[in-house]
Amino acid sequence: MDDIISYNRRAWDQQVDQGNRWTVPVTSEQTAAARRGEWQVLLTPRKPVPASWFPELAGRKVLALASGGGQQAPILAAAGARVTLLDNSPRQLEQDRMVAERDGLEIETVQGDMRDLSRFPEESFDLVFNPCSLLFVPDVQPVFEHAARVLRTGGTLMCGFVNPVRFLFDEQKLERRQLSVRHKLPYSDLTHLDADELQQLRDEGQPYMFSHSLEDMIAGQLRAGLAMLDLFDDSSDSEMISEYLPVFFATLASKVSHG
Ligand SMILES: C[S@@+](CC[C@H](N)C(=O)[O-])C[C@H]1O[C@@H](n2cnc3c(N)ncnc32)[C@H](O)[C@@H]1O
Repeated sequence: MDDIISYNRRAWDQQVDQGNRWTVPVTSEQTAAARRGEWQVLLTPRKPVPASWFPELAGRKVLALASGGGQQAPILAAAGARVTLLDNSPRQLEQDRMVAERDGLEIETVQGDMRDLSRFPEESFDLVFNPCSLLFVPDVQPVFEHAARVLRTGGTLMCGFVNPVRFLFDEQKLERRQLSVRHKLPYSDLTHLDADELQQLRDEGQPYMFSHSLEDMIAGQLRAGLAMLDLFDDSSDSEMISEYLPVFFATLASKVSHG
């Protein structure tokens, strides 16, 4: 298990060098606008999170979870939140520190695995904000359990997800715009790719990915003591499957209890 985390740490560090969209920091103009109350953030590729999902942010404690890259954490901090950012990739965290220093923002950055939030006290955050990243861990339940523990009662968890349908198809054929069902779910790069494909993924510095069932992603939150309040679908320009169905979704849940 540690190997997956170490491998994905190096891979996301490499993604920063490769200019992956999710590693490109916001501009000073965007943080200045957020200070004036004009801001939006993403949990999924296209649709901004509805403003109605957010509590008044001034002074609220936010845990930006697996949210490095200098994107959401600086915007939420500029909007008035007290932001702690936990991410597995040192280079992703550096992007946030660069924006914070450049634009005079305070963001506490912590390197770690999103499945272990034991370093934070119980009930210490008002909002846990987790943009699409659960596909990089094989097991999502620890993330929900830990998020529920660190949230105060009534606090909210916002997560972006990939629909497991995304993992059914042969990737190489998708590049030729052919939809060819190949993989039985649940998908894991480690068990479903052949040796050459896995080597190519490693050579390209791509992170390992895993599919999760809707039960894991939605009932998993309910089982952790959260109540589901809202959900929206989204799609992406870079995913051909998005022409057929919205491949991404985001959920809003609220902590009711934690046992
Ligand atoms: C697609 S990026 C998400 C961040 C980006 N700002 C966004 O808007 O989507 C995925 C992030 O998850 C982080 N990540 C992957 N596995 C992780 C883990 N086990 N614990 C913490 N962070 C992890 C990566 O380092 C990367 O920064």
